[in-house]
Amino acid sequence: MTDAPKRPSMLPLSNASAGGSPAAPSTPAAPTTPAVPAPQVPGVPPAPLTLRASAGGERPDGNFYELIGGRATFERLVREFYRGVATDPVLAPMYPETDFEGAIQRLTGFLEQYWGGPTTYSEQRGHPRLRMRHMPFRVNPDARDRWLTHMRDALDTLELSPLQESTLWGYLERAAHAMVNTFEE
Ligand code: HEM
Repeated sequence: MTDAPKRPSMLPLSNASAGGSPAAPSTPAAPTTPAVPAPQVPGVPPAPLTLRASAGGERPDGNFYELIGGRATFERLVREFYRGVATDPVLAPMYPETDFEGAIQRLTGFLEQYWGGPTTYSEQRGHPRLRMRHMPFRVNPDARDRWLTHMRDALDTLELSPLQESTLWGYLERAAHAMVNTFEE
């Protein structure tokens, strides 16, 4: 096996060509910024991978929205979720009794937009401003955990691939934690 070729020392161009004061011949060139990412530090977890290349979720092989089946999949998720919510003594009273269908459409529209689908949600509702829109509701840790329980049950019915499932779940979990606006019981 031959030794890997040594990287040429990278003296600044000004030194090499414009007659600047070159480093003394016996002094090795100062280390330059490596061209490859620093190796992982043992014991330190790697930075989380970003699976979406842009806010619109574009990927060479289709965005996440398309990959998991488009609107039909999000609507199945949300309908199943609301079936659970409707039975929940804490959450159900928060939702408009006579407009569950509207709530289903709003959450479906938001999720499909977030994951790279049509932007109908914002066209109809404006900027999501989700924390602000949740302020009228008492979203304490109990409500959050109930919301997540129903979402988890709904997600399990979709039978996505493990990676798709954990991608979606990771987001929903973080979003639900961010929505908590009171710690009062
Ligand atoms: C943490 C527990 C949560 C509770 C208790 C909660 C509760 C509610 C309630 C009561 C509404 C009003 C229903 C309606 O008329 O649309 C609502 C709306 C909505 N929620 Fe949540 N929510 C929670 C978390 C989340 C999360 C994590 C998301 C996003 C991933 C989300 C997205 C939405 C959206 C998009 C709407 C409709 C906003 C609009 O356009 O008016 N919610 N939520």
